[in-house]
Amino acid sequence: MNIILLGPPGAGKGTQARRLVEARGMTQLSTGDMLREARTSGTEMGQRVAEVMDRGELVTDDIVIGLIEEKLEADPDGSFIFDGFPRTLAQADALGDLLDRHGTPLHCVIEMQVDDAALVARITARSTCASCGEVYNDLTRPIPDDGKCVVCGGTEFIRRADDNEESLKTRLLAYYKQTSPLIGYYYAKGALKSVDGLGEIDAVAAAIEEALG
Ligand code: AP5
Ligand code: MG
Repeated sequence: MNIILLGPPGAGKGTQARRLVEARGMTQLSTGDMLREARTSGTEMGQRVAEVMDRGELVTDDIVIGLIEEKLEADPDGSFIFDGFPRTLAQADALGDLLDRHGTPLHCVIEMQVDDAALVARITARSTCASCGEVYNDLTRPIPDDGKCVVCGGTEFIRRADDNEESLKTRLLAYYKQTSPLIGYYYAKGALKSVDGLGEIDAVAAAIEEALG
């Protein structure tokens, strides 16, 4: 089964993808995580990617499509959660071609609906475990009092360079201009399921399970 989690920055895509990995043994493919890994490579490409990400703009289609293609080639029978990909119509077409080539259909696209005010509050309070990527939030899911990650016991937590109000404005604009047309695109293909992403994390997870059928 392949599914896409579609939603604005801070909608909870990463949080819910990790739930699905645990519940269904699927593989999370987050282009954001892959790009954050690439930027630490010290290459010139990594440096260019870092600048674009920190401004909150989208990285070029060919780079992210290439990253996804590599993952699909490496695990042709995998069951994938696409988290933050596709983000443009060109990426959506490319993903359709890749899945056709591998003979694995797209089960559905889960659109996570969260209003903009909640997104700003969520993102400016986010931190992530440096070892395993578990996502925390100062307000709604704080790091435990003993300072240890609930998943891996790690003690280092990071805040993303693009999690500030200025970059967030650009990220939101990129979402509305370049990514939100995908809602109509997948609706027209009969693949779209929309869930309320504003509830508690467990309630959103339950809504996603129901949408997956
Ligand atoms: P990416 O890493 O994908 O960032 P994003 O889309 O901006 O989304 P986020 O990761 O910020 O949010 P999320 O939806 O995963 O929310 P989370 O679960 O963390 O992309 C970063 C950058 O990389 C882009 O700007 C671009 O430059 C580049 N990029 C990536 N993919 C690309 C592509 N395909 N094409 C081109 N460029 C690309 O949750 C957020 C917070 O809210 C957390 O603190 C969490 O604990 C909390 N939270 C989650 N759910 C709830 C809930 N139900 N209630 C309360 N709090 C909650
Ligand atoms: Mg994410």
